[in-house]
Parts: sequence; structure tokens; C-alpha cells
Amino acid sequence: MNAFKDAGHIFRLAAVFVCGILVFVGVRAVLVPKSFGQYGHYRGDALAEIAARPVNFAGHQACEDCHSDVLDKKKAGKHVHVNCEACHGAQAKHAEDPASVQPAKLDTAVLCVRCHEANIAKPKSFPQVASADHSSGLPCDTCHQPHSPAIDTGETAQATTPATTKVAPGGTK
Ligand code: HEC
Ligand code: HEC
Ligand code: HEC
Ligand code: HEC
Repeated sequence: MNAFKDAGHIFRLAAVFVCGILVFVGVRAVLVPKSFGQYGHYRGDALAEIAARPVNFAGHQACEDCHSDVLDKKKAGKHVHVNCEACHGAQAKHAEDPASVQPAKLDTAVLCVRCHEANIAKPKSFPQVASADHSSGLPCDTCHQPHSPAIDTGETAQATTPATTKVAPGGTK
């Protein structure tokens, strides 16, 4: 007992720590959601909450089942790896009920530059244009078929859409 003769301050300090730990445990018990740790280091309830959110994207397989003509065109062109909803936006509602929900018309002057506007930060190998010079204000689909956009491949570009005939040959770059 002699060893603890002058140790009162140590016990007081220990008491402060014990109180601190108790407060921490108490506050934590109140603040941490009940389902935390149920499955792992996250809220178990979060799974149900996320699953309950509405589905916005249908996925390209759904589109392709009904629009196989577009798929065939796209497969042959440079946009083969760009998925439908990257351009058409989330279309789960349309895919579920195509008769009553139609996708909005796209404005190519806005859409295409989102990916193709020239920018020094993009890889050189990615096709890009300075749209102001390149299209002189015309919508991109005046000349390019969106589902098979390359022009110099002749057949795929020409066999596609009446949109390409809207501009006189002299109008192409
Ligand atoms: C269950 C069949 C079905 C599915 C799935 C479906 N569509 Fe459609 N889609 C239609 C029908 C039917 C029309 C209206 C008729 C038409 O114009 O071809 C239409 C019309 C469209 C149009 C407008 C056509 C126009 O002339 O303006 C676009 C764009 C479109 N679909 C894109 C998509 C995309 C993108 C997806 C995938 C997320 C998709 N569709 C999934 C059946 C479907
Ligand atoms: C690079 C962007 C892009 C991609 C990828 C794309 N579309 Fe389109 N799509 C367009 C544009 C632009 C139009 C013409 C404007 C409009 O109708 O809104 C169009 C038109 C359409 C149309 C109506 C006219 C037509 O050509 O038949 C349908 C249907 C359609 N797309 C379905 C699809 C489906 C299905 C996919 C995936 C297999 C797809 N699109 C992928 C940009 C795209
Ligand atoms: C979501 C991004 C995205 C959008 C939006 C998009 N593209 Fe593309 N585009 C691509 C990718 C990816 C490629 C393939 C690049 C490659 O082959 O390296 C491509 C390729 C092309 C090419 C072929 C270039 C070549 O090498 O010959 C043209 C032309 C083109 N796109 C025009 C358009 C037009 C016109 C639109 C609007 C209707 C459009 N793109 C919208 C991503 C996009
Ligand atoms: C007046 C017709 C016309 C319009 C409008 C047009 N293009 Fe083009 N575009 C062409 C032609 C022709 C080529 C192929 C010759 C070439 O490579 O320059 C081309 C090539 C491209 C390429 C490939 C460039 C490369 O380096 O391989 C991209 C990307 C492209 N266009 C995107 C667009 C976008 C985005 C728009 C809309 C802002 C657009 N184009 C509007 C005629 C047009």
C-alpha cells in the first residue's frame, strides 16, 4: 500500500479517463444507427433503402431487344461501345411502357460536344473537334448519323438515315 501513498492524483486522472470512456460509449450507443455492423462496416438498413429507390436506367440489353435495327447500325460503327442511355439518358420508364413514355428528342449540338469537344486534357487518340470551326453552328446530325457517326467509311454512314441528306454536299466540311 505504501507504493500508493502519494498516488491520489493518478486515481483522479484515471477517474477522468473512465468517465471519458463511459461518455464516449454512451454517446456512441445513441448516435450509431441500430443496424450498423449487421453485415459489415456499414448500416444494414442501407441495403433496403437503396433497393427501394426507383430504377432509372434500363440497361442497354433492354433497349437492344426492342430496337435491334439501331443495335445493328451501332454495332457496325464507332459508337459500338457507347451505350444507349449514355446519349438518350435514363429510360427505364420508356423501356417499361414504350407506348406512353417516349424519350425526349436529343439536341446533338449539346449532346455530341459533351464527349467530342476538343480539349487538351483528352487523350490524343480520342476523336475530338473544335465544334465552332467544325460544324459552323449546324447540329452534328446534319452530317453524322448518331448511331454510326464516322463519315469517311462510306457505306455505314450513307446507308443510314435521311438526316444526312438535309445538307448539300458542299455543306460538308
Ligand atoms: C419494350 C420495347 C422497348 C424497349 C425495351 C425500349 N424501347 Fe424505345 N421504343 C419502343 C417503341 C415501341 C417506340 C415507339 C415507336 C418507334 O418510334 O419506334 C420507341 C421509341 C424510342 C425512341 C424514339 C423514337 C423516335 O422516333 O423518336 C427512342 C430514342 C428510344 N425508343 C430509345 C430507347 C432506349 C434508349 C431504350 C433502352 C433504355 C429503349 N428505347 C427501350 C420500344 C422499346
Ligand atoms: C452517341 C449517342 C447515341 C447513342 C449511343 C445512341 N443513340 Fe439513339 N439517337 C441519338 C440521336 C442524336 C438521335 C436522333 C435525335 C433523336 O431522335 O432524339 C437518336 C435516335 C434514336 C432513335 C429514333 C430514330 C432512329 O434512328 O431510329 C431510336 C429508336 C434510338 N436512337 C435508339 C437507340 C438505342 C436503342 C441505342 C442503343 C443501342 C441508341 N439509340 C444509342 C444518339 C444516340
Ligand atoms: C458518351 C460519349 C459520346 C457521345 C455523347 C458521342 N460520342 Fe462520338 N464517340 C465516342 C466514342 C467513345 C467514340 C469511339 C472513339 C474511338 O474509336 O476511339 C466515338 C466516335 C465518334 C466518331 C468517329 C471518329 C472516327 O474516328 O472516325 C464520330 C464522327 C463521332 N463519334 C461523332 C459523334 C456525334 C456526331 C455525336 C452526337 C450525335 C457523338 N459522337 C456523341 C463517344 C461519344
Ligand atoms: C457540315 C457537316 C458536318 C457537321 C455539321 C459536323 N461534322 Fe463532324 N465531320 C464531318 C466530316 C466530313 C468528317 C470527316 C472528315 C474529317 O475527319 O474531318 C467529320 C469528322 C468528325 C469527327 C472525327 C474527327 C477525327 O479526328 O477523327 C468527329 C469527332 C466529329 N466530326 C464530331 C462532330 C461533332 C461533335 C459535330 C457537332 C458539333 C459535328 N461533327 C458536326 C462533317 C460534319
